[in-house]
Formats: sequence, C-alpha cells, structure tokens
Amino acid sequence: MPDDIIIAPSILASDFSKLGQEVRDVVEAGADWIHLDVMDGHFVPNITFGPDVIAKLRPHTEKVFDTHLMIEPCDPYLEAFAKAGSDIITVHAEASTHLDRSLQAIRNLGKKAGVSLNPATPESVLEYVLDRLDLILVMTVNPGFGGQKFIDSQVEKTRRIKQMIGDRPIDLEIDGGVTPETAPLVAAAGANVLVAGSAVFKGGNIGSYAANISAIRSAAAKAQA
Ligand code: DX5
Ligand code: ZN
Repeated sequence: MPDDIIIAPSILASDFSKLGQEVRDVVEAGADWIHLDVMDGHFVPNITFGPDVIAKLRPHTEKVFDTHLMIEPCDPYLEAFAKAGSDIITVHAEASTHLDRSLQAIRNLGKKAGVSLNPATPESVLEYVLDRLDLILVMTVNPGFGGQKFIDSQVEKTRRIKQMIGDRPIDLEIDGGVTPETAPLVAAAGANVLVAGSAVFKGGNIGSYAANISAIRSAAAKAQA
C-alpha cells in the first residue's frame, strides 16, 4: 500500500492581508499540512515573511507547519523558526555550507529536519545525510515565486531519490507547479507530499479550495505505484 498523499498548500498564493483566515479556510477545505515559504531576497530573488508571522499563525490551526527556508545563512535562524511553531524545518542544500550540522541542529531543537534541492542540484548531495533526514523536498521550479511552470526533468530525480530512501521513514515532497496534471507524474515516481500554491488558492474561497485540493489529491492517488 502506498502512503496516503499529503496535500500541503503554500500560503504564498493566499491573500496576505488575511493570512489567519486563509489558513483556517484552507484547513477546512482539506489541507493536511500548511507550507510556509520563507524568502530572504538573497538566496532567492523575493522576500516573504519570517518567524513572527508564523508565530501569529500558529494559534489558527493544529495542522503540521511545514517551514521551507529559502534563506542563506539558515543556521542563525533555526531556533527562531522552531520557537515560532514549525513542526518541520527544511533548509536548502545550496544554502547550507555545513548541511550535516544544520540538520543536527534542527533535530536538536525537537523538530523534523528536511533538505530541499534546487532543480539543478543532483540527488547525490543527500547520500551522506539520509539518516539525519525526515523529509526531502524536490523543487520542481526554481525557488522564489509561485505560479511557475513545472520542470519535467525533476520527475526522474524524484524516482531516484525514492530509491535512495529505501525503507527509511522519510517523506518525499514536491514543490512548484503542482496541478492535477503534474501531480500524477511525481506521485508515480514515489512522492507522497505535494505542495501547491496557485493550484489550491485559485478561486479565492473555501469551496474552490476544497475542489482544488480534492482534484490534486485524487489525480495523485490514482497514479501512485
Ligand atoms: C516557490 C515556493 C513554492 C510556491 C509554489 O519558491 O517554494 O512553495 O509557493 O507555488 P506554485 O504551486 O504556485 O508553483
Ligand atoms: Zn515552498
């Protein structure tokens, strides 16, 4: 039996003027996790929000807070994101000179540790940190913006990473350009967590969010190996 598909809406595509309401609405619409995209204008060419915003969102839901750090450096901020209420903290391999140390630091803060790879980064960087990982995030767009086109070459990378994971309890997450059309490609390759921003928040109301989430979930579930 394949793992149940987990849908993690990215609030990057929501209405930032009413973030708390958007989080509650998307949870009511069926979100499993909330994906929080933190950008610094340095590692990626865009700026979003930091730990204070996450801490303010924390009381709005008990769902898993899946924090995707697109910041460099990341080590000085891990504790703040842990204290803000993140359940999973994911750092970019490209932004961490001492990746093994960053992953240990996240687990020492009592949080689940994730690594994200940009599209051009080979999966070999994961080889010696697999046992320090709870989640691997494959970027299927270049990080920085929502609404970009899914990069097909990442499907093969996802399949290879699934093989590397073997029977370890590591979630395999996809982020970027996930829609009901692209979700089956990565689900068939072994991904079990799907981030989606624009494909979930289009429509702007709970009814649309619910239909959008269910379209992605059922397309992915059908394609699972
Ligand atoms: C991009 C972010 C993504 C983004 C996905 O840098 O990491 O989480 O919100 O947006 P969509 O689903 O619109 O591609
Ligand atoms: Zn993300």
